[in-house]
Amino acid sequence: MNITIVGSGYVGLVTGACLAELGNKVTCIDTNKSVIKKLESSVVPFHEPGLGSMLQKAIKNSCIKFTTSYKHGLSESEAVFVCVGTPSKKNGSPNLDYVSDVFISLAKNMEDHGVIFIKSTVPVGTNKKMQSLFRKYNKNPNIKFASNPEFLKEGDAINDFKKPDRIIIGSDDIEVQKISNRIYKPFNRQSNRMIFTNIESAELIKYAANSFLATKISFINEVAKLCEKTNANIDDVRHGLGSDPRIGPQFLYPGLGYGGSCFPKDVKGLIHTFSSMGLDSMVVNAADEANKLQLKYFIEKIKKSVSKPLNECNILLWGLSFKPETDDVRESLAIKLIKNLSPQVKSFYLYDPVASLNAKLELNDISNIHFIKRKYSKIEECNFLIICTEWKEFWDPNISELKKLKDKKVFDGRNILDQQAIRDANIEYYGVGR
Ligand code: UDX
Ligand code: UDX
Repeated sequence: MNITIVGSGYVGLVTGACLAELGNKVTCIDTNKSVIKKLESSVVPFHEPGLGSMLQKAIKNSCIKFTTSYKHGLSESEAVFVCVGTPSKKNGSPNLDYVSDVFISLAKNMEDHGVIFIKSTVPVGTNKKMQSLFRKYNKNPNIKFASNPEFLKEGDAINDFKKPDRIIIGSDDIEVQKISNRIYKPFNRQSNRMIFTNIESAELIKYAANSFLATKISFINEVAKLCEKTNANIDDVRHGLGSDPRIGPQFLYPGLGYGGSCFPKDVKGLIHTFSSMGLDSMVVNAADEANKLQLKYFIEKIKKSVSKPLNECNILLWGLSFKPETDDVRESLAIKLIKNLSPQVKSFYLYDPVASLNAKLELNDISNIHFIKRKYSKIEECNFLIICTEWKEFWDPNISELKKLKDKKVFDGRNILDQQAIRDANIEYYGVGR
């Protein structure tokens, strides 16, 4: 099939590359010329494992091409996926300007038939609004609409696309169901993962899923605090909780709170939808509030445990991305921690395997920070270590290196270290709920 993707970001590019690999002819449109330029020379503008090689292969097999022009990008396309960002506005509601711009451009450039699938995360009711916006410029009844939310985790997005737990299609049109089955057929060989709902249900499933996962994280973060007060061990509690299939082991890892370009935005987005309908959202509100408190709690723990005034301390900090296997620092807890503490400390030495460049952009107005290329350089000048992101290379650090820390303390924000080995080396260990 001829497929067009609008928005070549995290979601659009993964969707395009995976559909191209299935032999579809994919065209990616993006209004950002520099993004298109990079993509044409098969350079992916962000870190996503496996995406670069997939794109190179698709370009070599001429299954994918890139353009800034809607006219070129839409010729003969039978399906269009809208994958532009929907960042939070100040009041917590998502900014839908990009989606609206896309629908107007599509209306002005789509001629014959096709289905427009919205993958971008949009509040309940948005699809219908975009349809009426589209119809102002284009009355063609052979152009249909559907909500097709994505459940891609950054750092594991290709896997998530190719092995979806479910494929949600929100539409009441039989033609849309047929074309959806055609596109997603390769993913449904063992079991049919297609779930057809009406448009509003599909829109709400995405917000409810992300908000539930965020709530799960806030819940375990609160339980971790209780563990610290009661000598319970969060690793065992998590294991005991997660072995109940009704609860499940995933997304029960305590840490510094959830970040990224989705959970904070989608939790606030859902709260805004509740309040715009005159409803209270006690549970989701609580998850949002608890998340804000989690970082404060960890910072307080650091302040209470340091052995000299913070303004005399050089801090070694590992992990700047919001999660491992990505260079994305959007809503990164490490960045928030650095912004909060940098005015109170002597200096920070910052290390991340891939996200330092993006972190520099976020922290460019802070002077007492230094980016290091290797995680142990300057360790002997640092008073203690803070781990903010659970990159694989941090899990089993060289203890003899850690012993060079002046105050021999480690603050493990993601509970990844072997605390016994650390304590056996006379290094003080502080985890979350441990
Ligand atoms: C996606 C989904 O769109 C969002 O709803 C979800 O919550 C997070 O994942 P993402 O892929 O991260 O967002 O968006 P982003 O990385 O911001 O990429 C969007 C791309 O669309 C950018 O390359 C931008 O240049 C492009 N764009 C934006 C357009 O081509 N046209 C526009 O009008 C606006
Ligand atoms: C999330 C959803 O998982 C995905 O389905 C949706 O499409 C987009 O949003 P993403 O934000 O990329 O994906 O990453 P995810 O792995 O979900 O982590 C989100 C945040 O939660 C990160 O800050 C992570 O550190 C945190 N987290 C995750 C925890 O603190 N504990 C956990 O157990 C899991």
